[in-house]
Amino acid sequence: MTPIPYGRQHITAEDLKAVTDTLQSDFLTQGPQIAAFEAAFAEYIGVQYAVALSNGTAALHLCAMALNVNENSNVITTPITFAASANCVRYCGGNVHFADIDKATYLLDLNKVESLIRSKTQGFFHGIIPVDFAGRAINMEEYKWLAEKYNLWIIEDACHAPGGYFTDSMGKNQYCGKCNYADLAIFSFHPVKHIACGEGGMITTNNERLYKKLLLYRTHGITKDPALLHENHGGWYYEMQELGYNYRLTDFQAALGLSQLKRADEGLNRRREIAAIYAEAFKDVADIHGQSGSLEGHAYHLYIVEVEDRLALYNHLRANNIFAQVHYIPVHTLPYYLKKHFHIRINILKFLMFFLIA
Ligand SMILES: Cc1ncc(COP(=O)(O)O)c(C=O)c1O
Repeated sequence: MTPIPYGRQHITAEDLKAVTDTLQSDFLTQGPQIAAFEAAFAEYIGVQYAVALSNGTAALHLCAMALNVNENSNVITTPITFAASANCVRYCGGNVHFADIDKATYLLDLNKVESLIRSKTQGFFHGIIPVDFAGRAINMEEYKWLAEKYNLWIIEDACHAPGGYFTDSMGKNQYCGKCNYADLAIFSFHPVKHIACGEGGMITTNNERLYKKLLLYRTHGITKDPALLHENHGGWYYEMQELGYNYRLTDFQAALGLSQLKRADEGLNRRREIAAIYAEAFKDVADIHGQSGSLEGHAYHLYIVEVEDRLALYNHLRANNIFAQVHYIPVHTLPYYLKKHFHIRINILKFLMFFLIA
């Protein structure tokens, strides 16, 4: 049987042309493709600002920096995510706290988050990083109510969910990363994601102040913008005003992202078609359970099933050339977090993941 990989990018003749055109242009990096990709992505998501970055992890790091995470910060996230969702807090010296997930949706459980907040003194927590896990949009409106009640910021980790949405209390579809409720949201363009750049990431926000900080942090904290300079000695003059990084995306990666973005809805529809086939196939199988409740708006980065003996199933699939994966090993059980960081007892679900080949 032909191997079915865990994930595979989809590259068309238009993608190749977009990349080669950029490779033959004057700019390999810091050229016009970046701004074009940012503008198109912001329009696709329906948000005011987008900042392209070298990967989703860099995007998370800069979000944590922009929100002033430091060694006194306490931040809540889900244990069922890729480690990067938590690591960004550690990069800035902050403390990570894990609240349990909802058994039906597998998303961070709002009630568990609130009871964790209430178990500490007022002002102990500073922020929440909810994740649109597997592509299922988390209800950000409810998180905003919680954030306002306890004076917290929100970074939405939407790496799995470009094009995903939830329906708000007014019956309106709210797209992941639109930032009507979150302060900042982030995306990844790793090849297994909906839009592939090789490596790549994006931050979205409607907050101009944060947006300006991110632009500075993305390129070493250096600016040449006359409006920002403390002094000005002429056209050559620049200032390093913050300790930033080189987290820039290249122009040829942005060209690929821009070209892929044009087919984003096509890819989303294909993922939803494949998910419907799985759902139909598993519906009468007693030992296989999936995410339940309303699945409208699911962007299906992953198709998750919960099974009793995942190792046996994993080995069986491997033996048949089907490369499913376990997503995720709960972050608080990873040796780094076990040895160093806060964790609470959570109910570890037995997850097995199938990646959808769109
Ligand atoms: C939920 C989540 N957050 C963050 C990241 C980090 O993105 P990147 O691999 O682009 O650094 C990933 C990547 O797999 C992810 O799945």
